[in-house]
Amino acid sequence: MARVFITGSSDGLGKMAAELLIEQGHSVVLHARNESRAKDAKKAVAQAEDVVVGDLSSIKQTRNVAEQVNRLGDFDAVIHNAGAGYREPERGDTEDGLPRVFAVNTIAPYVLTALIKRPKRLVYLSSGLHQQGDPSLRDLLWNDRAWQGQQAYSDTKLHDVLLAFAVARRWPDVLSNAVEPGWVATKMGGPNASDDLDQGHRTQAWLAVSEDRAAQVTGEYFYHMRQRTPKAATRDSSLQEKFLSECGKISGVELEV
Ligand SMILES: NC(=O)c1ccc[n+]([C@@H]2O[C@H](COP(=O)([O-])OP(=O)(O)OC[C@H]3O[C@@H](n4cnc5c(N)ncnc54)[C@H](OP(=O)(O)O)[C@@H]3O)[C@@H](O)[C@H]2O)c1
Repeated sequence: MARVFITGSSDGLGKMAAELLIEQGHSVVLHARNESRAKDAKKAVAQAEDVVVGDLSSIKQTRNVAEQVNRLGDFDAVIHNAGAGYREPERGDTEDGLPRVFAVNTIAPYVLTALIKRPKRLVYLSSGLHQQGDPSLRDLLWNDRAWQGQQAYSDTKLHDVLLAFAVARRWPDVLSNAVEPGWVATKMGGPNASDDLDQGHRTQAWLAVSEDRAAQVTGEYFYHMRQRTPKAATRDSSLQEKFLSECGKISGVELEV
């Protein structure tokens, strides 16, 4: 039995992955943005071990989420699943002055990775849209460009792959991989999504716990339990390091070498 922490598990793929893992006999700690959503999550996934609370658009609250997780002890796996979508109509200044999508999708997984005691496995939710992400890392905070929600989302999903691969390289004792769940009909995906919802949550759960040899790899990108080729730039270790350095400057949190 493994112990798994899943961010953004009050709904969508995170909640579905939690249900699947519990059904398989694993212990799952959920995460919700506030007390009200935590209540909903507890009700929906009644057999979860616990629920950690914090809004990932706030660096302060994200640090607090890491503290809550560390107080619960060791985890075998952490799934960085929480995400803000590609239809954000505006930059959405957070309390830290960041675009909301960037804060939730890029900075939060970076800060949680740096501050949660290292698990054996890390899984990061990316998207096929990462292929359209901007590898120059210019204007990460959208100060100089007119806002484009889908481009901003695609950039953050590229960041998630860079983060997964950087961690895989820096921490060889941890299995760290990225996942593309497909375009599926969750709250984020919307009703017109064309991929199979029943496949959407399985890969993240499998990478977190499976004893299959295919799941025990590191620094890879998966779609429906198979490796898929990510954007070539994600393999560039100097770009990965530049990305970590930018996240360090923005968040004030360092990722251990
Ligand atoms: N659905 C797709 O087609 C698709 C495609 C590619 C990639 N993905 C990725 O898959 C992951 C899961 O997406 P999903 O489709 O399951 O989306 P979803 O149904 O919208 O669920 C997102 C989860 O993240 C939580 N969350 C969002 N902002 C948060 C914040 N500021 N603080 C704390 N929690 C927050 C949500 O909480 P609330 O329930 O309170 O809103 C919810 O639990 C995301 O990383 C997404 O980028 C999804």
